[in-house]
Amino acid sequence: MESTPNRPAPAPAPPCTLVIFGATGDMTGRLLMPALYNLARVGALDPAFRVIGIGRRELDDAAFRDGLTASMDDVVASRGAAAPQFDPQAWQWLMQRASYLAGDFKDGQTYGSLDKRLAGAQGGVIFYLSTDPDFFLPIARQLHDAGMFKQSSGRWRRLVVEKPFGRDLASARELNRQLAKAVNESQIFRIDHFLGKETVQNILVSRFANSVFENSWNRLFIDHVQITAAEALGLERRSSFYEQTGALRDMVPNHLFQLLAMVAMEPPNAFEADAVRTEKEKLLEAIRLQTPAEALIHSVRGQYRAGTVGGKAMRGYLEEEGVAPDSRTETYVALKLCIDNWRWAGVPFYLRTGKALARRQTQIVIAFKDAGHALFCEAEHCKPPANTLVLQIQPDEGLFFHMQAKVPGSKLGTAPVSMDFRYRDHFPPSHSSGYETLIYDCMVGDATLFQRAADIELGWKAVQPFQQAWAEGGDIHPYRAGSQGPAAADDLLARDGRAWLSLE
Ligand code: BG6
Repeated sequence: MESTPNRPAPAPAPPCTLVIFGATGDMTGRLLMPALYNLARVGALDPAFRVIGIGRRELDDAAFRDGLTASMDDVVASRGAAAPQFDPQAWQWLMQRASYLAGDFKDGQTYGSLDKRLAGAQGGVIFYLSTDPDFFLPIARQLHDAGMFKQSSGRWRRLVVEKPFGRDLASARELNRQLAKAVNESQIFRIDHFLGKETVQNILVSRFANSVFENSWNRLFIDHVQITAAEALGLERRSSFYEQTGALRDMVPNHLFQLLAMVAMEPPNAFEADAVRTEKEKLLEAIRLQTPAEALIHSVRGQYRAGTVGGKAMRGYLEEEGVAPDSRTETYVALKLCIDNWRWAGVPFYLRTGKALARRQTQIVIAFKDAGHALFCEAEHCKPPANTLVLQIQPDEGLFFHMQAKVPGSKLGTAPVSMDFRYRDHFPPSHSSGYETLIYDCMVGDATLFQRAADIELGWKAVQPFQQAWAEGGDIHPYRAGSQGPAAADDLLARDGRAWLSLE
């Protein structure tokens, strides 16, 4: 098969300044700066581009840049041999444009200093909230009070809000309501980095550019859908965040629901912001709202115990630094959801995500209905297994169709085989995290891959019954680090006569 050329480098984004609040945090060094480096490397940033980091730590520009360089070194070291060679010139280019401002996020003086710093900047400004969520609103209010959201021709202002956006439906609604008082909705870019992943965007291309899939993408042909975001990593020094958040809040109403929406939404009228987001909202709105009693039956919570992941010993969640010894925070969750619309009536969607599992695996399994009649064997019980289509988000990005083929020979026997499309066989490795696409889109003002206020609220609304059910009780099932998750999650599907695709 012919290999498809890589897509051309994007045109340079318009001149702008990226102001990162929380710039000394892990995220800036591990994700945002590597993404900016990737953009710089392909010439997607304007020569007038600037990045200003704001944090509470007292640092000068040189110390800030040194910290960023050390993080970048770690990122580069963690990449495999297939990674494109590090380009020191592109990094240097970026570092020449990086500066730091020490300040308290709740102090008006910080914004006075920032305003002065921005005085000579060309073009637009993106204010990126990469802080503890408690600071989202105070920062937005301060920016508003300092008049920093005001726009005029060629002088645009945008606000990027990270997750978690609220803790539940009520707090997300309130945050949306309060943000709306400080900044215009068209200036707010609610980010979910899963949407920046190539493979997540490819879900829509697979579905809507290939009629063979779309024609069978409904309840007549599909038995059920599995959405998995399994991680091998444990807590990674994030105990204060994770203890408050847990697997459900951290992953489900945002990342997993984005995957759900991409796989189940109706085709948008056009691939542009409002059309795509309207269809996504309709899908999220169609998720059946369960009663807390139903939610308890249709969910499993787990917490990892000591075990071995990838050959390395991992301690249990309760032994992690900063975790309460009697913590009831879940590190694993599995849910069964139903979508009440014409396309999906009667097709269950099983979602699962967890830390410290057997391996990193983010995938969507479309399990088709079986062949109906055992044509190649006399006994009904030897009907061939049903086809499955696996949309592999990461790692080993691709699309795999599992089917049956005749075993060569005079006897008519069947065997499972797979038709595989792997990104790496057709496109050069990109090592992007998803942030590149989203930061670039924000710079050019394309909101297609960002969330409107309603998307966020609909996500929380659908998980609310689970939050309520768990607040009232229910078990937390232990599972061994390095395993497939709690046995109770297998039972969730076994009750319906189904099984998860193994993480191995
Ligand atoms: C983040 C979560 O949003 O997504 C983390 O807070 C999680 O807990 C991460 O590890 C997963 O993202 P990715 O891109 O590594 O799959």
